[in-house]
This record gives sequence, structure tokens and C-alpha cells, in this order.
Amino acid sequence: MSDRKLAMIDYIASELGNKPVIGAEIGVFRGEGSLYILEQLNIKKLHLIDPYNYEDAEYRDLARPHLHEASLEAQERVKDYTDVIQWWHMASDEAVKLIDDKLDFIYIDGNHYADYVKNDIVNYEKLVKFGGWVGGHDYANGDVYVSGEKFLMDGEPIQIEVKPVVDEWIEQHGYYLFVAGDRAFPDWWYQKPY
Ligand SMILES: C[S@@+](CC[C@H](N)C(=O)[O-])C[C@H]1O[C@@H](n2cnc3c(N)ncnc32)[C@H](O)[C@@H]1O
Repeated sequence: MSDRKLAMIDYIASELGNKPVIGAEIGVFRGEGSLYILEQLNIKKLHLIDPYNYEDAEYRDLARPHLHEASLEAQERVKDYTDVIQWWHMASDEAVKLIDDKLDFIYIDGNHYADYVKNDIVNYEKLVKFGGWVGGHDYANGDVYVSGEKFLMDGEPIQIEVKPVVDEWIEQHGYYLFVAGDRAFPDWWYQKPY
């Protein structure tokens, strides 16, 4: 059983019950969120998108040094669900060109810098069905701290820039924004209108 809890997924489960759904997760890492999705929803198909590219200098995150082991761990963690999983070992902006399903939801948790978050929302909202859900993790803004210290990568602080991008998008479109879960790094989501 997954020890992760994703507030957005709990919400979808409460709305849809046992209805079969097709979804996607951008940013899989160790597969903990993926397993939670697979356990909580009646998944017909789950697209798992992650390039696991530890040489990607644009990906400045705590996860980067651990990507190789994380990829193996994720395969193992979701192994009971291989019949409903489609892996995309590539960046989200490449995968979006190849996925030909309409999605009930997209869970965005890849590169947390502003340009990437914006592209993920813009690109993947188009794949989501009317009435489906768009959201993700880490509705936060600012430097990342570990044990009270600013975390540095290549001598520079790393940042999360999800909240301002989401706020601007929600404001532009007049959507209702849900925010729930972990106090510092909550989930955010909205329903794509019918
Ligand atoms: C915070 S971790 C994801 C955690 C995971 N969702 C969970 O619940 O455990 C971020 C992941 O995003 C991936 N990533 C980085 N850039 C990406 C991109 N452009 N497209 C898709 N995934 C990306 C990284 O390789 C990393 O595994």
C-alpha cells in the first residue's frame, strides 16, 4: 500500500466512486504518487511520464541526484498494475504529442519552475475531457529549505514556482481553485468546465 496521500486524487475518488478513468501523472520519481492513484481510483489506463534525466541542468530539484534509483524503484512499486500503465520515458512536452487518449485527469508534478508548469497546464488541459480535472502537487512559491537551510544546487538556491503560475491561470479563466493536503506543499486542482 502507498504511504503517500494525494488530496486531488481523494477528491476525484469522492466525485467518481468506482467509475473507470484514464489519467496521467507528470513526474513519477519513485512511483509513490502513482501507486496511490492506482489504489484509490478505478484506473482503466494511467500514463506515467518521466524522462528520469539526471543530466537535465534545467531540472533543478532535490530529486535530481536520485533519478536512476528512483526509476527502478518506480517500476517495482507499480508492478502489479502493468496492464493499465503506459510509460513515457520522456519530457512532458514530448509525451503530450504522442498520447492519444482523452484524460479524466492530469496530475502535474514534474519540473516546478514557472515555464514548465505553465507549459504542462496549457498542453495537458487540452487532453483533459470537459468536466475532468487538472491539478498537481506543490502549490508553493519560493526557495526550497532542507533542515532549515536553503538548499543549493550548483551553488544556487532551488525554487518552486507553481503557485504564481496556477494563480494567474485560474484568474485568467475564472476557474474555481481547490487547494488541500500538506500545509507547506499542498495539491491544487480545478475542474475543466463542461
Ligand atoms: C517531485 S518528483 C515527482 C514525485 C511523484 N509525483 C510522487 O508523487 O512521488 C519530480 C519528477 O519530475 C520529473 N521531471 C523533471 N522534469 C520533467 C519533465 N520536463 N517532464 C516530466 N517529468 C519531469 C523528474 O525526473 C522527477 O522524477
